[in-house]
This record gives sequence, C-alpha cells and structure tokens, in this order.
Amino acid sequence: MRMRKVKWAVEYLGQSKKKAAHPENRRGSWHSDKKKLHVELGCGKGNYSLEMAKLYPDDLFIAVEKNESAAGIAAKKFDESECDNLVLIHGDAADLGQWFDLGEIDVLHLNFSDPWPKKRYAKRRLSSSGFLNVYRSLLSSDGEIQMKTDNGPLFEFSVVEFLNTGFVLSELSVDYRRDPHPEDSITEYEEKFIRLGQPIYRCVFKKGDYAK
Ligand SMILES: C[S@@+](CC[C@H](N)C(=O)[O-])C[C@H]1O[C@@H](n2cnc3c(N)ncnc32)[C@H](O)[C@@H]1O
Repeated sequence: MRMRKVKWAVEYLGQSKKKAAHPENRRGSWHSDKKKLHVELGCGKGNYSLEMAKLYPDDLFIAVEKNESAAGIAAKKFDESECDNLVLIHGDAADLGQWFDLGEIDVLHLNFSDPWPKKRYAKRRLSSSGFLNVYRSLLSSDGEIQMKTDNGPLFEFSVVEFLNTGFVLSELSVDYRRDPHPEDSITEYEEKFIRLGQPIYRCVFKKGDYAK
C-alpha cells in the first residue's frame, strides 16, 4: 500500500533529535552502555520500536525506514517520547553494512515486510538470501532474526531462505496472537490484521554455527 506524502516530513527529518544524521560514523560503536542492540528494518511509522524501547529500557532500538513520509512520522514520535534508547535511520536496508560492524547487531526485526509477490522481484524481499547473508555477518554469535507477517506465501518463502542460508529455527507460530505475548509489541500493520481476524505468522531464527 502506497503511503500518502506527508508535507512536513523532509523538513522534520532535518531537525529531528533522534534521527541519526550520519549513521556510518557510529558503525562499531552503537552499543555504548546498552545491553542488546535491536534493529528493525522497515519500521513504517515507528510504533513497534517505540513500544519495544519502552518495554526494554536497557536495550538500544534502531529503526530503519526508507520512505520519507513514514520516517518523518516515526522521527516525530521518537522525539516526543522520553526514550533515550531509540534511534531512527532514514535509509535503505540495503545499506545496513555501512552502518553496522560485523557481529554488532543482537536482534534483527522484520515486521510485515513488503512481500514483492512477483517472482522477478524476489531479491527485493528483506528475507531473501542476499539480505540474509548480510544479516548473518552483522549478527552477534548468539544473534537472531525475529520475523512477523500476515502473508502466507512470504512466510513460506522466508522459512526456506532462512534454512538455506544456515539459520537455525528457534520459534515458529502460524497464529502468534492466539496467545497473549506482552513481551512483543504490536506493529501498525499487525493491529490492522488482528482487527480483521487474520492470523499472524511469526518465526525466530538464530544465527547458529555455519560452516559452509
Ligand atoms: C508493509 S510496511 C510495514 C510497516 C511496519 N513494519 C508495520 O509492521 O506496521 C513495510 C515498510 O517497510 C519499508 N521498507 C520496505 N523496503 C525497505 C528497505 N529496503 N529499507 C527500509 N525500509 C523499507 C516501507 O517503506 C514500509 O514503510
């Protein structure tokens, strides 16, 4: 779904306190005093990272979004929050390796990523093997990827890609919100699908040892 253009977004992003102006300059030094480094790719309007930052104040949450309008809204929400453990990167997940060092990320979150249903665009899916191999190198040794989606075909595709790139399955659900999960916040898209009564697919894959 295409997002309506938010007129103030560009200007706001230029002055936001929680938007990283030069994330490449912080490569290798994000952790500081925080326990775990979480990165959400395609954060949309930012609710998930914001709520998770409140739930886990000792961890650092970095939300990445390429769409200017969504990023502007997320930046404003982050600035208005009291959280000191929340950063926005306005950029493309394809550039992840420029902002994070090898082994620097503890948890990667893929929430309701664009499905790119046509086969010829499969490489653009954030859970396709090209991306997964980059994530693998940036994850810490006990790092993991948590993925949620409403999209069955994307979920099936992703599970196979995770397994083919050496990730180790740790959790899997085809109706995650059947049980309460107060430890994991609900995203904007997720809220919509829950309201429609649609099941939420979720999996967690650990980096594991990969000796290929
Ligand atoms: C379907 S929306 C989901 C938003 C949010 N995660 C949620 O669950 O409510 C997907 C978001 O990912 C962003 N996105 C897609 N590809 C991206 C990429 N390569 N880098 C950064 N953001 C991306 C889109 O702009 C969009 O805001």
